Amino acid sequence: MGQSWDVKRLAGTLGAEVTGIRLAEIGAEETDAVKALLSQHKVLLFPDQHLSPDEHVALGQKFGELEGAHPNLAKPGMPSPHIFELKATEGGIADEWHTDLTFTEHPPLMSILNMVACPEAGGDTMWTDLIAAYNDLSEPMQEMLDGLTALHDARPHGNRDAMAIHPVVRVHPTTGEKALYVNEHFTRRIVEMNPFESEALLAFLTRWVQNPRFTVRLHWTEGAIGMWDNRVTQHFVINDFIGERVIQRVTVLGDDPQGAGAPRWRPWTERATISATSHWDAQLYRFLRDRDSKQAAE
Ligand SMILES: [Fe+2]
Repeated sequence: MGQSWDVKRLAGTLGAEVTGIRLAEIGAEETDAVKALLSQHKVLLFPDQHLSPDEHVALGQKFGELEGAHPNLAKPGMPSPHIFELKATEGGIADEWHTDLTFTEHPPLMSILNMVACPEAGGDTMWTDLIAAYNDLSEPMQEMLDGLTALHDARPHGNRDAMAIHPVVRVHPTTGEKALYVNEHFTRRIVEMNPFESEALLAFLTRWVQNPRFTVRLHWTEGAIGMWDNRVTQHFVINDFIGERVIQRVTVLGDDPQGAGAPRWRPWTERATISATSHWDAQLYRFLRDRDSKQAAE
């Protein structure tokens, strides 16, 4: 790590502020040091960076291949196809807890956010540590969750047909730690449970991860860079401000989410009988049918 860097933890479980570093100028060795800090702290804040769009994209490329335009919410006129801009005045306030894009097969590995314009007060972002949230569950709950999967969709983006199934407990590929991988924004259904069990369990889990003791809250200043490991965190923008808030984000393409083990039970829809409650299963049934017919055609 660079000799002059100062790393200050921002909460008990996750988050650190790094100063004494100029992100526009880091080489391979320093990039590796930032990656190690990100694995350890999961969320990093670098104040006073003031990166140009080109520098922002170049920084992202040091961490992996970047995503192109957002799958559902892309806008024209961006300085680079890799930059996704969110403006509060155009509805860009992500005030529901989520891991980014979990309705895709390969949700992003990490994102790097450039704070372009801040409101006078408010507009902080919170993150929650999904590894800490998993570790604080009881052993019987952990053991059950290890064998489950969940269906995610892009309903908040107006696209219910964009769906993916992921393990409920995801293993971090670098650290081997287990993280609770369901979120209130995109996760719709526990695949192996009946719809009423699924609803109750998801309500509990998505609320559990919001416990303040798993979280950190970042206060933004213009020119700050924030980065987070999207595999083991969720985030939430606090919608408490008046005025403009503009962020630009680059996103590193994700890997294949690995579970703690193979799913231990078959999907509920394979054993459900047709009844008046079957409409609750329609989305899951449709996803599995389409996936199976696609696999059969391959
Ligand atoms: Fe987000």
